[in-house]
Amino acid sequence: MTASPLAQLQEQTTDLLATVAAWQTLDELLEGEVFVTGKRSILSALQKSLGSLEPEARKGAGAQLQEARRSVEAAVAQKRAELESAARIVALEADRLDLGDVVSSAVRVPYSHGHPGIVAATQRELEDVFVGMGFRVADGPEVETDWYNFEALNIPPAHPSRGMWDTFYVELGDPETVVLRTHTSPTQIHLMEAAVASDSLPIHSVMPGRCYRRDTPDARHLAAFHQIEGLVVDRGITFADLAGVIDTFTKAYFGADMQSRLRPAFFPFTEPSAEFEITCTICRGEGCRTCSHTGWIELGGCGMLDPAVLAAVGIDGDEWSGFAFGFGIDRCAQMRHQIADMRALIENDVRFLRQLS
Ligand code: PHE
Repeated sequence: MTASPLAQLQEQTTDLLATVAAWQTLDELLEGEVFVTGKRSILSALQKSLGSLEPEARKGAGAQLQEARRSVEAAVAQKRAELESAARIVALEADRLDLGDVVSSAVRVPYSHGHPGIVAATQRELEDVFVGMGFRVADGPEVETDWYNFEALNIPPAHPSRGMWDTFYVELGDPETVVLRTHTSPTQIHLMEAAVASDSLPIHSVMPGRCYRRDTPDARHLAAFHQIEGLVVDRGITFADLAGVIDTFTKAYFGADMQSRLRPAFFPFTEPSAEFEITCTICRGEGCRTCSHTGWIELGGCGMLDPAVLAAVGIDGDEWSGFAFGFGIDRCAQMRHQIADMRALIENDVRFLRQLS
């Protein structure tokens, strides 16, 4: 009688289990599996050899072999679970954000802090100067009806002076024409209306904010820009008060050596009116591209409140008088920081922005 092919099964099974126990990685398992339980394993070879046994012996041997296979397969399954969970932990570790690394690389490569934009910073500085002179700060809407932006300011429909403001229309007519405000002057109307309604005259306020004009941007103009409006309504106010405020502001903000001048001009809502200019800081008055070779930069307009405007909001022009001014915040930033081309303010070139931090 030939020896049973399963004579060594005990030892063989022990060897297989030892092989499985020795696997350290999923790759080893995937490569080794075929030799342990797969087609090229001793178990499969033994399975085939059972065919040569007598049916009786085959039955018992089959059950033995089945048992051996089950134990090896269970060991493989358990090993697979172990190695998979170990692999998952390794992957999670690799994914983990090590804040220690972030901090130490930040220390090696200094990062830059954000800072207020140049226009916002300028607006704040201008507010400070005016607050120091006794003004309050107010604001108003950027979208206005035609009445606030024009009519209440003594600019009736189709008045030729409307050409001074290249207007973006939000809605035409019916029931009301609505525009993006072309200047901060409509805030004058809101403030005076509120003061009349609450019986709280006098007014000494500045109103900064964004304005819009259908202008083609160039070295001195942007289509969306910022103005700061000034409004004084009080008893006995004269043009000398206006000139004094403009000059005090110029010296306080641009420097004691800066010149300002008022040139006669026309605005429908002030009478008399003037344009307010300061020495060009780019060329110090010599003449350059930025100031169109005049040596002066126009900051804005001003004048004594027109009686028609006071009447429109119901203020008695015999008792009260006042002045208003309005000028460009972007223009101030440009002059203060000697920026030859105003478009640099909106181009967001970090090399430019960093210089102004
Ligand atoms: N609103 C005028 C403009 O934008 C400037 C101005 C303001 C003029 C106040 C007179 C009084 O051109």
